[in-house]
Amino acid sequence: MSSDDMYAGTLLTDEVVVRSATEDDLDAIVKVDAAAGGIVRTQYLFRRLKMALQDGGIRLALVGELDGSVVGFVLAAVDYGEFGRAAPSAVLDALSVHPDFRGHHVAAALFRQVEMQLRALGIETLRTEVAWDQEELMGFFRHAGFLPAARLCLQKELA
Ligand SMILES: CC(C)(COP(=O)(O)OP(=O)(O)OC[C@H]1O[C@@H](n2cnc3c(N)ncnc32)[C@H](O)[C@@H]1OP(=O)(O)O)[C@@H](O)C(=O)NCCC(=O)NCCS
Repeated sequence: MSSDDMYAGTLLTDEVVVRSATEDDLDAIVKVDAAAGGIVRTQYLFRRLKMALQDGGIRLALVGELDGSVVGFVLAAVDYGEFGRAAPSAVLDALSVHPDFRGHHVAAALFRQVEMQLRALGIETLRTEVAWDQEELMGFFRHAGFLPAARLCLQKELA
């Protein structure tokens, strides 16, 4: 039995309100991101949020609220990508929950909504990249059913 099934008719994620992000959420998203990652990425997140708002359906930007405050967010994008690929996939670009509010199923609620929206778009595969030292994210993704993809990420230093 999964923990979601413990109480008939209720889910552990029920207390989390998940909604589409708006421009007004930028400050809260930047704060959550900075608290999780240690760097302030206002411009990057502003651009991503703008793109999500303009390209509804292709890019997703969702926030998770507890008691009316934004405590987590997720960014994902549909990749209709390379010609010849059997089915469109999607890329999960960022997922963060403020350190003070972890363990309250915020990421699970955000992820559930992302999965639902992508399935509704006919997307069959969700990919993401994780730095090898992002152990929390790695653990969450493993728990959420991700497996290593059959592809190698290569890079060459040009400097
Ligand atoms: C990983 C992260 C998103 C999890 O958020 P969270 O809201 O605390 O997770 P949840 O409470 O929704 O957990 C949902 C489930 O995943 C499990 N889980 C969460 N983190 C886990 C981990 N690190 N390892 C294994 N399982 C984990 C929980 O135990 C829970 O399981 P359950 O449904 O069986 O009870 C959060 O810790 C985080 O933001 N970490 C930093 C992310 C980061 O570095 N972002 C910057 C780059 S984008």
